[in-house]
Amino acid sequence: MRSLPLPFQPRFIIYTAVLVITAALLIEFLLGNTAFFVTMPLVLFAALSLLGTLDLIQTRHAVLRNYPLTAHLRFILEEIRPEIRQYFLESEKDGTPFSRDKRAIVYQRAKQALDKRPFGTQNDVYASGYEWLHHSIAPKQLVKEPFRIVIGGPDCSKPYSASVFNISAMSFGALSANAIRALNTGAKRGSFAHDTGEGGYSPYHRENGGDIIWEIGSGYFSCRNGDGTFCAEKFEQNARSEQVKMVELKLSQGAKPGHGGVLPAAKVNAEIAATRGVPIGVDCISPSRHSAFSTPIEMMQFIATMRRLSGGKPAGFKLCIGHPWEFLALCKAMVETEIYPDFIVVDGKEGGTGAAPLEFTDHLGMPLREGLNFVHNALVGINARDRIKLGASGKIVSAFDIARVMALGADWCNSARGFMFALGCIQSQSCHTDRCPTGVSTQDRSRQRALVVADKAERVFNFQRATVEALAELVAAAGLDHPIELAPAHFSRRVSAHEVKSFADLYPPLEPGELLKGSGDKRYEIPWAMASAKEFRAQPRSA
Ligand SMILES: Cc1cc2nc3c(=O)[nH]c(=O)nc-3n(C[C@H](O)[C@H](O)[C@H](O)COP(=O)(O)O)c2cc1C
Ligand code: SF4
Repeated sequence: MRSLPLPFQPRFIIYTAVLVITAALLIEFLLGNTAFFVTMPLVLFAALSLLGTLDLIQTRHAVLRNYPLTAHLRFILEEIRPEIRQYFLESEKDGTPFSRDKRAIVYQRAKQALDKRPFGTQNDVYASGYEWLHHSIAPKQLVKEPFRIVIGGPDCSKPYSASVFNISAMSFGALSANAIRALNTGAKRGSFAHDTGEGGYSPYHRENGGDIIWEIGSGYFSCRNGDGTFCAEKFEQNARSEQVKMVELKLSQGAKPGHGGVLPAAKVNAEIAATRGVPIGVDCISPSRHSAFSTPIEMMQFIATMRRLSGGKPAGFKLCIGHPWEFLALCKAMVETEIYPDFIVVDGKEGGTGAAPLEFTDHLGMPLREGLNFVHNALVGINARDRIKLGASGKIVSAFDIARVMALGADWCNSARGFMFALGCIQSQSCHTDRCPTGVSTQDRSRQRALVVADKAERVFNFQRATVEALAELVAAAGLDHPIELAPAHFSRRVSAHEVKSFADLYPPLEPGELLKGSGDKRYEIPWAMASAKEFRAQPRSA
């Protein structure tokens, strides 16, 4: 059968019709009919004809060449697909990375709206992976005082009493100035800590006086020399600020471990340049590795330098666990140098970021619970757990999330995206485009004004307080006085339709000093043998 001529094929018919109507209107116009009902449609159809013709001759989009005009509908629908899913199709348990239910609990607590649920759980309690906390027959009285934890080992002269729930590292640059202001004001009101992220200690962190954990990454922002190396004088000047309570060395974060970062030149405005100590309008690069040290021993010496320059404040590091022997190399360096960090923050692979390659966000790094428990056991195994406090981050937004990781070894928790939701983030996931619809993650001033600092600071404060109150209720129901008493035996997980396991079985402990004595535990024995305090590289197994 002979096919129809091209203009009459279904995929071209709209374009052909538009051309025909345009021609008819043009003839009418040339015959002297200049009435509004002729000129207006003529302009419209002429524009559509032009668009269709451009579609036909352009070479970038095959679908437009084959479906002139009509293919634009596909692009429009694709653009609004996330919104359609979120507003019309998503169920309470749907939505990634955070389900609608998880986001809702943050919004409700931030707005002091009713955060209770009627009619029983929506979770399938017989599905694999379902987890629960055991309650006690003899619950304790509800503790009214917010839970705090003292961070600072024997070498620290200015320990910090931290809340168990704090704002995780997010840079000025990734977040807007108004977002930073609101977070820090909320932190000040609620006496919890606000981590700067690696993008420097900006004026917006300083304005409102909330407790600061100052993080430095491989770009040494706010403490760098012209060539990008670490500048001890600038570090000392900032770290001694009364507002800075702890100093943190960032090795990696879960969403993009082992990956540096680039803030594109266009985003490096005068403010960001001044905060970071970099030139205006030039790509701002965070290398993938540090230049201030290159071996585990040197890294411990650098931690000691940070603590000394800060005037004795708690100094620690943040990482997502990668090769187990590399963390154990750090443990060996601690033992050999007798320099111990005051804290370690373990970030889970499930952590967030402003932007990262898909392969990194999806498949690089250890998930939080395994990473945290590994670090906790390793520190027990070198007899250092009592002097090093452990922080944890990675999709922690509810009191249950906090309780679970505290049972696995955390002394306190940080949340990044939880606090972004409290600021009004709607999980549109366009943080990397500078077109954030809520003003949270954009440097565009006209968009930032949507975020009203006083209002959102109140929500940040409310969210943190209500979450810690919910934690107090869980802890009391479990018959405990403080979440630090939570242990693996308090939790269970369904591992199959017919089997439930205690966390105590799923996460077996190490004995104090076991690594130093020579552990036969297969999880540690081999990587311990491969670890060296002198280099991060794996050692041959026989060494
Ligand atoms: C927008 C954004 C920016 C971030 N920037 C940093 C950073 O500068 N330094 C860092 O250590 N982690 C950074 N993170 C990671 C968070 O601090 C946190 O470790 C991770 O997102 C897990 O927490 P969450 O699941 O509560 O988001 C960032 C995360 C987000 C979402
Ligand atoms: S609203 Fe969207 S773009 Fe803005 S911070 Fe949230 S996820 Fe990122």
